[in-house]
Amino acid sequence: MSEPTEQQEEETPYQVLGGDARVRELVDRFYDLMEIEPKYDVLRKMHAPDLADIRDKLYWYLCGWLGGPQLYVERFGHPMLRARHMPFSIGVAERDAWIGCMVQAMDETQVPDNLREGLERAFAQLADWMRNRAE
Ligand code: HEM
Repeated sequence: MSEPTEQQEEETPYQVLGGDARVRELVDRFYDLMEIEPKYDVLRKMHAPDLADIRDKLYWYLCGWLGGPQLYVERFGHPMLRARHMPFSIGVAERDAWIGCMVQAMDETQVPDNLREGLERAFAQLADWMRNRAE
């Protein structure tokens, strides 16, 4: 048997998580929590009454962001995520509610330990970058 000549490609976070069904599960839990947990009311009130479209959009976005298929970009082009959030007033309270809701969704859908910490840090950075109100 010969030695492997090429270095094995590193798995993407998308693969480590378990692929598209697991991304969908995380997103669905995120918006379920936004609907049922009073502590995320600040987020729920900013969103459309029907969350069906945004469930799809965040799922498409996260598949690509995690290194899987670029489903959002295929449909809408460059995400320009910060610009798309400009119509909404996002300060510390909204940012922290978003992060809290995502952390709870990650816990409840058992995101693998080897992914969990890095993902929380990356989500927190992205959410902070979305702030468009001073406090
Ligand atoms: C920082 C706190 C955040 C708040 C308060 C917030 C809030 C919102 C709201 C109100 C919408 C519009 C939903 C609708 O049409 O009903 C939206 C859209 C969206 N958000 Fe956020 N968001 C935040 C952070 C993030 C982060 C960190 C991500 C990515 C990981 C993200 C991804 C998206 C995407 C992909 C859309 C759809 C954009 C489009 O219209 O195509 N958001 N967000």
